[in-house]
Amino acid sequence: MNQKEQARLKTLNRILEGQLRVKEAAVVDGGNMSRHINELREFMKGYPNTFGEDPRNPEAQSDERKGLPTPPLQKPYDEKTSTLIDLLDPGGACLVHTDIRVLIRQRRSLRAYADSAIPLVSLSYLLWATQGVYTIPKHRTWSLRSVPSAGARHPYETYLHVSRVSGLSPGLYRYLPLSHQLLSLGTRDSLREELFVLTDREAFVADAPLTFIWSCVPYRGEWRYHTMSHKSMLIDAGHICQNLALAAESIGCGSCPIGGYWQEGADRFIGADGQDEYVVYMASVGRRQGSESD
Ligand SMILES: Cc1cc2nc3c(=O)[nH]c(=O)nc-3n(C[C@H](O)[C@H](O)[C@H](O)COP(=O)(O)O)c2cc1C
Repeated sequence: MNQKEQARLKTLNRILEGQLRVKEAAVVDGGNMSRHINELREFMKGYPNTFGEDPRNPEAQSDERKGLPTPPLQKPYDEKTSTLIDLLDPGGACLVHTDIRVLIRQRRSLRAYADSAIPLVSLSYLLWATQGVYTIPKHRTWSLRSVPSAGARHPYETYLHVSRVSGLSPGLYRYLPLSHQLLSLGTRDSLREELFVLTDREAFVADAPLTFIWSCVPYRGEWRYHTMSHKSMLIDAGHICQNLALAAESIGCGSCPIGGYWQEGADRFIGADGQDEYVVYMASVGRRQGSESD
């Protein structure tokens, strides 16, 4: 590990310690916590369906109502300098189970994975199942994908930590759903260690062949639904992860949803600024131990 990466890990560890201190302080400060809990409960209820107007502040209107342009359906990237990898037709994935009753019955959070690599066609299938795009109108203001999303806003970007996927170098990637490609974000020696630290030292995540990291670009939802967008954007994440879980079962893999991670570390890990884009959910994926091809 070079000096820069060691410094990076040191920073991550400092963040972890800092966040632990904030958490402890919040527990001690009991009075404020109960107010905070009430606010969080109210947040879960969302607001009445007023489509872009906040009932508590009638002057506040969504940017869509104000006539501002639609945000891009996918986070932009530098087309001239980026390394792109074409993904495969998801139809080529080898399905072990196709009966939806078996998939639902069989799904359990899996935290131990076989050593074998996941084929690229399986990864292509998992990405299609979680964010695959099949309709975009000419004006490109919305898209229809393999999961539902409030107002078809689809506010999530998918990042991947790849350790063992055949045909892909280990490293970090971002899915480009509009072209069904991967954008390479490179690698660094400390990636595994960083993931280990930011998931509060969960070795099974750091050592999984593949980890999905979903970041939210909140403006995509806010543009249309303003202050009522945040509840639905969180619900959207659940749909994505459930599709991943069932699709993974269907190809002899298992997955584990991860909501327990250190926010600032996770945002840094994927290069998100923590304000206009931040991590909301993750899931590790791997083949079941003892599966046929292992
Ligand atoms: C929103 C959410 C967050 C979760 N976060 C974690 C996590 O950080 N670490 C973990 O090991 N499991 C996590 N899980 C998995 C749950 O522990 C698991 O779903 C639960 O124990 C029920 O087991 P099952 O998934 O096998 O039915 C999470 C699940 C959900 C839905």
